[in-house]
Amino acid sequence: PGSQAGCPYMMSKESGPHQTHRASCPMSGAFVDQEQAHQLHNRRLAHDERVGDWGEPDEGYAVVKQDIADALTDSKDYWPADFGNYAGLMIRLAWHCAGSYRKSDGRGGCDGGRIRFSPELTWPDNGNLNFALQLLDPIKEKYGSKLSWGDLIILAGNVAIESTGGPILGFCGGRIDDPNGDNSLILGPNEMQEELTPCATIDQIGTCAYPLGPTVIGNIYVEPDGAHNFKGDAAESQKDVAEVFSRMGFNDTETVALVGGGHAWGKSHGPCMSPPCGEEGADLGIGINAFTSGFDGKWTVRPTEWTNDYFVNLFDEGLNWTLKEGPSGKLQFFPENGPDIMMLVTDMALAEGDYRAISELYRDDIAALEHDFKHAWYHLTSADMGPASRCYGSEVPPAQDFQYPLPDVPVGYGSIDFIPVRASIQDVIDADAVNIGHLANLAYRSANTFRATDYRGGANGARIRFSPEMDWEVNAGTADALALLEPVKAAYPDVSYADLIVLAGQAAIEAAGGSSMTFCAGRVDAIDGSGSKNLDPRTYAPSEVIGIRDNNNVRGLTPEEGVALFAMPGADGVLSNAFFTNLKAGEGTFTAEEEALLDPEFSSIVDMFVEDNAKFLEMFESAWNHLMIADRFDGPLTNACAGVATPTLAGDPTTAPVAPADPTAAPGDASPTASPEESGSFIVASSTALI
Ligand code: HEM
Repeated sequence: PGSQAGCPYMMSKESGPHQTHRASCPMSGAFVDQEQAHQLHNRRLAHDERVGDWGEPDEGYAVVKQDIADALTDSKDYWPADFGNYAGLMIRLAWHCAGSYRKSDGRGGCDGGRIRFSPELTWPDNGNLNFALQLLDPIKEKYGSKLSWGDLIILAGNVAIESTGGPILGFCGGRIDDPNGDNSLILGPNEMQEELTPCATIDQIGTCAYPLGPTVIGNIYVEPDGAHNFKGDAAESQKDVAEVFSRMGFNDTETVALVGGGHAWGKSHGPCMSPPCGEEGADLGIGINAFTSGFDGKWTVRPTEWTNDYFVNLFDEGLNWTLKEGPSGKLQFFPENGPDIMMLVTDMALAEGDYRAISELYRDDIAALEHDFKHAWYHLTSADMGPASRCYGSEVPPAQDFQYPLPDVPVGYGSIDFIPVRASIQDVIDADAVNIGHLANLAYRSANTFRATDYRGGANGARIRFSPEMDWEVNAGTADALALLEPVKAAYPDVSYADLIVLAGQAAIEAAGGSSMTFCAGRVDAIDGSGSKNLDPRTYAPSEVIGIRDNNNVRGLTPEEGVALFAMPGADGVLSNAFFTNLKAGEGTFTAEEEALLDPEFSSIVDMFVEDNAKFLEMFESAWNHLMIADRFDGPLTNACAGVATPTLAGDPTTAPVAPADPTAAPGDASPTASPEESGSFIVASSTALI
């Protein structure tokens, strides 16, 4: 409302070539030459558009849920439903779609719906999930672009769980489909993954390390018959499971609840294939002859119902579980006496080590299992969606710990007058030019944790004030910069540190020679540093060039933006292209990372900045604004800056000082000043206007 479609930051009174809000808007084409960065931007934009699209969202998801429920028991000849119900298949689909998420860089997950494409669809673990997608296809067709595949897949898992009596915490809607599978290429197995995180040689199989998600590339989970070199060994398998699930971000309780809870449903598919062991005349490869993983059998005798039978069976000594080869030769556990059920080695692992007590609890207390499963399932399916404020729909539960919620914006925050705050910051800057570099660096470092991959991190929360973030090597000196702001904070205690840090950084950039930028208030302070977990600088790239490229992609910056940010104002307090001129001329001392900018991958950008200071400034400000507002999901639209009641600074053209006109802008170029209605609960203002 009131903004250009998908671009809420356009509501500002500043305009012209130095229109700084463009950072959150579609990139201008001319400067996007890396497909991946481009896609990450577009995913955010598309999210805004979708929210506008839905009209009656609550009704929307509810109707879709009914369609899914109907489809679950409508067995199709091309892929007959086991036990007359697709619940197990759909739960597996949702789990595999979400389970590619890795905490190391926020990549993977079902947002993007890339399980429909290569490489994910061809990963060995995803066998026959094309049929699950085919079953959902008519529903996708019916809702068209209003419903993303990502949302549909997770919703299908949820409906399957609910319709069989299982527990569900809620649904975080709002996933956006990628147009292809490219964003999963870096998850492997392929050259792109090998370049960033090599792990392909034979002796590495089963031992691929963090930051990769699985120990075997191409797996969602671990090898079901046991860890590499320890086939059939449940105790070793337990360590393997714990490692892989921790890379997805799960603790022991969540892991046991998910694996054992998930195997309440469905079955494994691995009948003997040669000769076919199915009924005479049956088509090989579907129905009872369907062959997927090669493991065979169901975990419980009630595979279309939610139960804790799995945990009861696990500890049932009367069953006398014995390791044997299944019909297709895979190692599994079967009961010596008892029903036609089975356990994988990874299932027996749940009775080992620290998992054992948790499994015993779930055997004895299904309510405990229900509680833990529904929370873990919500975590699994929503981790890549970022903060709770990005979730869309009528079933969104309260913010969960894994979403690192921030406190609410205090009542009355919107009536804070930022003009004297800005003036007070200016005093700090005027006191010593060296403070310019310190304050700019503080804001940059504070905002730089943002990950466009899973929408975590960023300046909001000001977690740079706490451990672990304040202790990171890259943040050396930021405590001193923070100390510079303490007198301002003391004078204006109601202003959050997070807003203060960004406003001070912006004032510093402007003092260093940047043009006037728009300030968007409304940030709040986290109460501790827990939200910085796993956001520490990624240091595993095998070369500086690859590291820079990856860092740009994860932050959602274009290469031009990423390169421009290397020229932060230093001790001289000047923002200019001099850094690049000196780098190219070899004058001065540079880090290995800075020197990597001379690599052909970035050197044409460096050349462009050397030749054209205005272009450098434009890109720098674009990057700066992009980062400073990247984590503002707290508005009526995602990515909007809001959460405050009164638009104190925006909106009145008769009283608000006008930002300096750009001499190159044609008369009439300026976009109209945002009206109070348009700005709604926003506080936006030209920083220059605040002086
Ligand atoms: C099926 C392994 C975790 C839900 C399977 C299959 C295997 C497997 C081998 C059989 C696939 C086939 O042949 O059709 C594992 C391993 C896990 C794990 C090794 C981790 C250690 C999970 C989790 C969930 C889950 C976390 C959900 C929360 C299911 C379901 C099926 C299944 C519902 C049945 C699919 C059907 O009926 O078609 N799993 N799984 N699994 N898994 Fe898992």
